[in-house]
Amino acid sequence: MNPYGDNAYGIYKDVFKGHRFPLAFVDLDKFDRNIAYVARTQAETGKSIRVASKSLRCLELLKRVFKKGGPAFQGVLAFTMEEAKFLIDNGLDDIIVAYPSTQISDLDIFVEKTRWGANLSQVVDCQEHLRVLSRAGEKAGVLLNLCLDIDMSYRPLGRITHLGVRRSPVHSVDQALEMARAARELPGVRFVSAMGYEAQIASMNDNYPGQGVKNRVVRLFKNQSVKELTRRRKMIVDRLRAEGIDLCVVNGGGSGSLVSTGRDDSVTEVTAGSAFFAPGLFRYFHEVAFEPAAFFGLQVTRMPVKGVVTCQGGGYVGSGEVNVNRLPWPVLPQGLEYLSMEGAGEVQTPLTLPRDCPKLALGDPVFFQHAKAGELCERFNQIHLIEKNKIIGTTPTYRGQGHAFL
Ligand SMILES: Cc1ncc(COP(=O)(O)O)c(C=O)c1O
Repeated sequence: MNPYGDNAYGIYKDVFKGHRFPLAFVDLDKFDRNIAYVARTQAETGKSIRVASKSLRCLELLKRVFKKGGPAFQGVLAFTMEEAKFLIDNGLDDIIVAYPSTQISDLDIFVEKTRWGANLSQVVDCQEHLRVLSRAGEKAGVLLNLCLDIDMSYRPLGRITHLGVRRSPVHSVDQALEMARAARELPGVRFVSAMGYEAQIASMNDNYPGQGVKNRVVRLFKNQSVKELTRRRKMIVDRLRAEGIDLCVVNGGGSGSLVSTGRDDSVTEVTAGSAFFAPGLFRYFHEVAFEPAAFFGLQVTRMPVKGVVTCQGGGYVGSGEVNVNRLPWPVLPQGLEYLSMEGAGEVQTPLTLPRDCPKLALGDPVFFQHAKAGELCERFNQIHLIEKNKIIGTTPTYRGQGHAFL
């Protein structure tokens, strides 16, 4: 079966005939189905969905999620304070900046937008964050809204194991209470929300084809981790509320954990971002299934030897752990493979052809998916938008609007 649709290569090739390559595009029919799918995951939980803008990095597509998704979608999980300003200036509100910063220019934006009534908060995870932000708030005469970032890693053997990301040091109930009490003593800040992102559930594939044993092991570990973190997140949230902290929002999860996070009674909302583009690293999940919707195309410019084509460009490697899954995924035609000595190159990318590959000539396209979602938009100024197999427009990415926020 072709996960991209019947004859997808031929269709996209025709659509982009005569266009300049490299190019990037989003198939809106698929994108919209992903929006509807994400909404359905929360239809019974009643949780709202906060959109992780880092996984889109394109204003029009971000707005489209809210327009097409309806009231289930509320708020943005932004990745920098400058980005938050850009979003607010473009009409969006209810923004949590999910990664801490104490640099002066960010504090200035935070203070200014708060003064003008924006619903904006920033994640913090240590007393130093609290002190710096409180000083800025107090000096400006405003109360800055904060979100407590709780570490959701799984530590079955105590401190010697840490399965999850390394971000917040706040892991236990006592540590969370310590932060809450410290904030209460400060004049320029207040906690209004908490966030616990279980990366080890939300970003770990557990349904690789042909890897039954590995998948079962990963799912076993995920199930254990979900049990532990659900209990701990609830305890922390309950104790914070008992302490008088008015948590309007408790955010959790990501695209890969929409089901398990949605079931967690202590969260008020789940986050989704990668679900909409559904890049290479969001293909093999057991509990959720998205349709690949965002692609880039390169043109074949050389044929070094029979069975190999070389494309122009292509070295758009995904961030994170170093492994071959972070390379762009050549998807159409299906079955193309990298040369291990070259991978995806700075200016050229050779690929070996499968035996049943349609004939490729100079100038023909090869279509890829980026391994990660929003990073695609850091490589292109604009995205072509396709509907019913026709280009209906183009839209600038953040980069195309002159913004490289990180
Ligand atoms: C804090 C936080 N929440 C949620 C997510 C999930 O985002 P996505 O749905 O794009 O995987 C991430 C991704 O890294 C994150 O850092």
